[in-house]
Amino acid sequence: MNVIEKSFKIDVQPIAQTRLTELDYENIPFGRIFTDHMFIAEYKNGEWKNARIQPFGHIPMHPSSSVLHYGQGVFEGMKAFKDEQGNARLFRPLKNWERLNASAQRMAMPTIPEELFMDALTTLVRMDSNWIPDTEEGALYIRPFMFANDEFVGIKPADDFVFMIFCCPVSKYYQKPVRVTMSDEYVRAFRGGTGHVKAMGNYGAVMEPLRKARLDGYDQILWLDGYEFKRIQEIGTMNVFVVIDDKVLTPSLEEKAILPGITRDSCITLLRDNGYTVEERDITVDEIIAAASSGRLTDAFGTGTAATVAPIGEIGYKGQHYMLPSIDNRPVSIWLKDEMRNIRKGHRPDTYNWLYQV
Ligand SMILES: Cc1ncc(COP(=O)(O)O)c(C=O)c1O
Repeated sequence: MNVIEKSFKIDVQPIAQTRLTELDYENIPFGRIFTDHMFIAEYKNGEWKNARIQPFGHIPMHPSSSVLHYGQGVFEGMKAFKDEQGNARLFRPLKNWERLNASAQRMAMPTIPEELFMDALTTLVRMDSNWIPDTEEGALYIRPFMFANDEFVGIKPADDFVFMIFCCPVSKYYQKPVRVTMSDEYVRAFRGGTGHVKAMGNYGAVMEPLRKARLDGYDQILWLDGYEFKRIQEIGTMNVFVVIDDKVLTPSLEEKAILPGITRDSCITLLRDNGYTVEERDITVDEIIAAASSGRLTDAFGTGTAATVAPIGEIGYKGQHYMLPSIDNRPVSIWLKDEMRNIRKGHRPDTYNWLYQV
């Protein structure tokens, strides 16, 4: 267990009256309920200042704020859990800090010192820890984000930035196996682009393809490479794994077109340490279709902070539907989901030192 030392100066303005009494723990829609407080800090003249925690609410913005026009912004998604003793725990928070800074660097934005990130995070989660649902699937979803805030019309890397964190109590993300479709009409990411970081524009650009996929009954798109539309990349919110001939396969990060998921990394570690063969390599559409058609595609799943491990029920491609085995017949994804939950909820010893005491 890691313990975080407090060191950054943060002004705290607590709310007068909590809104927690309005929360129905049995019915928590994902991403629509916000805790009592939020963190905010400003970057001006080359330094972070005015770090504060204040009541959650709207923020005033200038209509010319650069993020509203040019999308110079990055974000993260992470979770806090309650263990069996009711203590709040963060899962691998330094990985999110590292990735936020990698995203910031790709987008010509300032990095955030570790003490500022960790102190803001732990102070906020500690203040709002009563909002973490006590249920098996419950967690606090935490959204750190940074945006360019120059009050100026014109395209140039900005000088002023805002870093914020807010939190949402959440429950299960997907209720059923996920239906994904492979599209050769749109591209999400190329070598040299921003697919390997969490830049806001990556998500805006997929809204239209996603809208169309949903009209066809799919939950998400399984993106293909933009050169030949032959290799799978990832799902819009998750990394992807397939199990073919008892090998667990996942696309390699080498091309820098895929987000290096923290859940992906954790799952690869757990799988390898439990005797599974995991290959990080190119996986072609042809390989998936051939395996699905001959019964050798025994499992497929997405991994991500929001859904943890989400079994894929169906893969669509050019009007065909490739079905995966039923949910109680998945050798890998169900085991992995339980394993991840047991570690994060503290039901298992934290042998990897992934949890941080808040
Ligand atoms: C595009 C994309 N891929 C993969 C992931 C999974 O990453 P992680 O496991 O770090 O949540 C996410 C979620 O953050 C994502 O947005």
